[in-house]
Amino acid sequence: MCGIVGYVGEKQALEVVVSGLRRLEYRGYDSAGVAVIADGRLEVRKKAGKLVNLETLLGEDPLPQSTTGIGHTRWATHGGPTDRNAHPHVSEDQQVAVIHNGIIENFAELRDELQAAGVHLSSETDTEVVAHLLSKAIPAAGFDLVEAMRAVCRRLEGAFTLLAVDPRQPDLVVGARRNSPLVVGLGKGENFLASDVAAFVEYTRDALELGQDQIVALTSGEVVVIDFDGNPAEVRPFTIDWDASAAEKGGHDLFMLKEIAEQPKAVADSLRGRIGQDGHLQLDEMRLADADLRAVSKVVVIACGTAAHAGMVAKYAVEHWTRIPVEVELASEFRYRDPIVGPDTLVIAISQSGETMDTLMALRHAKAQGARTLAICNTVGSTIPREADAVVYTYAGPEIAVASTKAFLTQIIASYLVGLYLAQVRGTMFADEIRAIMDDLNDMPQKVDLVLDTVEPVRAIAREFANAPSVLFIGRHVGFPVALEGALKLKELAYMHAEGFAAGELKHGPIALIEDGVPVVVIMPSPRGRAVLHDKMISAIQEVRARGAVIIAIAEEGDEKIVAFSDHVIRVPIVPTLMQPLVSTVPLQVFACEMATAKGHDVDQPRNLAKSVTVE
Ligand code: M6R
Repeated sequence: MCGIVGYVGEKQALEVVVSGLRRLEYRGYDSAGVAVIADGRLEVRKKAGKLVNLETLLGEDPLPQSTTGIGHTRWATHGGPTDRNAHPHVSEDQQVAVIHNGIIENFAELRDELQAAGVHLSSETDTEVVAHLLSKAIPAAGFDLVEAMRAVCRRLEGAFTLLAVDPRQPDLVVGARRNSPLVVGLGKGENFLASDVAAFVEYTRDALELGQDQIVALTSGEVVVIDFDGNPAEVRPFTIDWDASAAEKGGHDLFMLKEIAEQPKAVADSLRGRIGQDGHLQLDEMRLADADLRAVSKVVVIACGTAAHAGMVAKYAVEHWTRIPVEVELASEFRYRDPIVGPDTLVIAISQSGETMDTLMALRHAKAQGARTLAICNTVGSTIPREADAVVYTYAGPEIAVASTKAFLTQIIASYLVGLYLAQVRGTMFADEIRAIMDDLNDMPQKVDLVLDTVEPVRAIAREFANAPSVLFIGRHVGFPVALEGALKLKELAYMHAEGFAAGELKHGPIALIEDGVPVVVIMPSPRGRAVLHDKMISAIQEVRARGAVIIAIAEEGDEKIVAFSDHVIRVPIVPTLMQPLVSTVPLQVFACEMATAKGHDVDQPRNLAKSVTVE
């Protein structure tokens, strides 16, 4: 949602903070703002719109030199994306500046209390109350911002990462976190705070994970972490295993194009080192005992958006390999429907960011019911893997474009690894069967590469349909979640009506949407897999074609039968049935990206969205 950066050190704080915001802009781009401490006073600049607007303002109205600063890029929740609602928010006495990510649920009550005490609030945000509360708490806290933050945090409900500065303690940035991300970057003579390590990875790869309900006091020489009660808190150091160039566009015009192109490597990295010397599958971060895994009677996958689609793909494979029933549930629905989970349920939370609030809350709910929990996550140091009993990282490298691409493929890989591991531990597959599937998986980087080499014609097809009022996607078996994913990509990037359907469902209602010229993207199953599925898809094509649909088929090399039933055929390499989503999704990513580009949209930062959704 919002991106947050804080810096204390020897460099010019503004440069560090703005460069951090540039890397965090994927988290929100409704407005941006900075505050620095210079000559014993606060200096704030903020502006609605993307970071570039703030940079223009900073050019027109420069800030004085300073080595202590904070910055924010916003995804609006309370109050529209205006200059007034942009962060930082400052107390009436101009002594405290605050930035925030999250939602303060009891803000209305706190606002009423402040207004009753005569405080004038100048924005519609929930954040502003914190600035005023801190300012009131500071004298009682002996003019110590850390103590004041502790007192205020104990009054706040909801989710928040807060950073605050006060010119009376000019070399200090104070941070606090509950249910929202905040990591510390450890430098030499300088330290950093940010929502995501991307903000400071160009300066240091040494970082600290903060826990729940912790407060951090950051000076140039020291990082002190305490809990909300003032006790020293435990933190986990970690090393960032990628460098700043991984978060750059690397010669591509768009982060999304770069991330699409990186998929062969991302898949390879997710698979690396998974076979031990004894030839068995090993998952180093699997902290669940074999006995617990043997006792599992049900798997429930919780996730949102693209990650949920990856979970849907995984269901087909994991049930097939383990014979354990797998349910896939949108995390936002899970905890509000009294789900049946217990100690023999394995709940798998899939999340690229590791910070998605719906998924985090669902995970906590599952834990509270006694379930075993496992996170499939891309972001080391994030909350979901920290809170789950076990984790399998996807090692896809930073994903900056709002639309998930390499995360999807690597989430499928990681879920497959978990499925195979369960099969190994429970003895539902022979070791040679598992190795054969690992061999198939290990072929996938090269197959995805092949798709990328031959994907060019997709762009022309995308441009041809750029003005279509609607695009439908249909698939069967593992092609069904791929259809959903293709439609999601198109909605979020091209802002057009797109729906994914199970092909068999068409005749139960959605076929009424078909009229002359409607493009229907068909994810064809392999004729070599279950031939009956291929035949059924051809029937579905016939039904929509008879009503005027234009067919764009994604079909494997050598499937000649499809040609007579399609207007366009996009070829993907031959792979085993369960591996098909790893190749057939890629043209759909390119399709959506190209269509959005043709329509002149901002592909990396689509409207109304943010990369990691840290509110429920
Ligand atoms: O970080 P997460 O994987 O938990 O994010 C989940 C969804 O918000 C995310 O996949 C979203 O649907 C993507 N923008 C889709 O491209």
